[in-house]
Amino acid sequence: GKGNYRHFMEKELHEHPAVLGDTLRQYLDPKTLEVRLPRLPFDPARIGRLTISACGSAFLAGMVGRYWIEQLARLPVDADVASEFRYRNPPLADGGAAILISQSGETADNMAALRLLREAGQRVLSVVNVPESSMARESDGALLTVAGPEIGVASTKAFTAQLAVLACLAIGFGRARRELSTLDEGRLAQTLLEVPSHAAAILEQDAQIRELAMEVAKARDVLFLGRGAMYPIALEGALKLKEISYIHAEGYAAGEMKHGPIALIDSDVPVIALCPSGPLFEKTASNLQEAAARGGRVMAFTDAEGEAALRRFAERVIVLPRIGEFATPILYAIPVQLLAYHVAVLKGTDVDQPRNLAKSVTVE
Ligand code: F6R
Repeated sequence: GKGNYRHFMEKELHEHPAVLGDTLRQYLDPKTLEVRLPRLPFDPARIGRLTISACGSAFLAGMVGRYWIEQLARLPVDADVASEFRYRNPPLADGGAAILISQSGETADNMAALRLLREAGQRVLSVVNVPESSMARESDGALLTVAGPEIGVASTKAFTAQLAVLACLAIGFGRARRELSTLDEGRLAQTLLEVPSHAAAILEQDAQIRELAMEVAKARDVLFLGRGAMYPIALEGALKLKEISYIHAEGYAAGEMKHGPIALIDSDVPVIALCPSGPLFEKTASNLQEAAARGGRVMAFTDAEGEAALRRFAERVIVLPRIGEFATPILYAIPVQLLAYHVAVLKGTDVDQPRNLAKSVTVE
């Protein structure tokens, strides 16, 4: 049941800390700070390229995974939504490898991609939440997200659990390919292990996020901006908002705004910025300042180190716990999902069963 929560989505949002802890403990030894992966269907040290494919939020997790794997393991990654993947007729070298990501493990587009990949001689690893699902069974190997059943149609805890698994995979690949030292691995593992308690702290900022939601609920259009691995989280924020509140939202790479979407900016469009301190902060902040200079209402998520710079022009700044850059996509996914939830509640939509959507999409 829903316990004391109004919706399954709210309950599932509050499961983030526990689910992240459970999923990380599955693949990370907190004592030795080592990633422990089960036997994989391919050797990450021997592949020249990796394909990632999935749908919806799971695909956005895959986009973050691409960023991490390319950074930490120096392995080229191709990421494509499953419904488009096969129409590209992608050239796949024999002996190649792929990762498919899915909560349900029953998404028809993924199953079609899975069959194509296997016919093309690829070894397929699934990251999946349902162990007995078709995808888990038909893949060459499966890594489980330990999210438990997800009832709300909009994916929440399954998404961050997917990120946790992909983060561990990226570290494991980095080590296997000799791109990461034991020291690097320990530092990254330590950062990941800080995620669950910071996730709990973010859930306690609920009232602040609800206040932001009251502004967002009045808007007709909303822009979400982020750079680097925060760009897919901007897309996730926009997807969640569209899905459950029916407000039109777009996610953009912050630096791409000047190439078009900045034309949309006026005083009616909230610009939700995902802007943690770190190597991408300055450039992102200057993109946001451009939006503010054109009358845009910048509402930023950052940490204590980014706060002062953003306060100079942002209408609202929500200060999140500070964490190593590597883990920021996992952490920042939580407030954007929570924001969408509160906006939907304020709008009175059917949060757990949004119109036209199904939890498991079994048609292509
Ligand atoms: C977004 C959402 C959908 C699913 C997508 C894939 O909140 O729930 O976009 O992420 O339909 O579903 P799975 O992960 O079951 O393959």
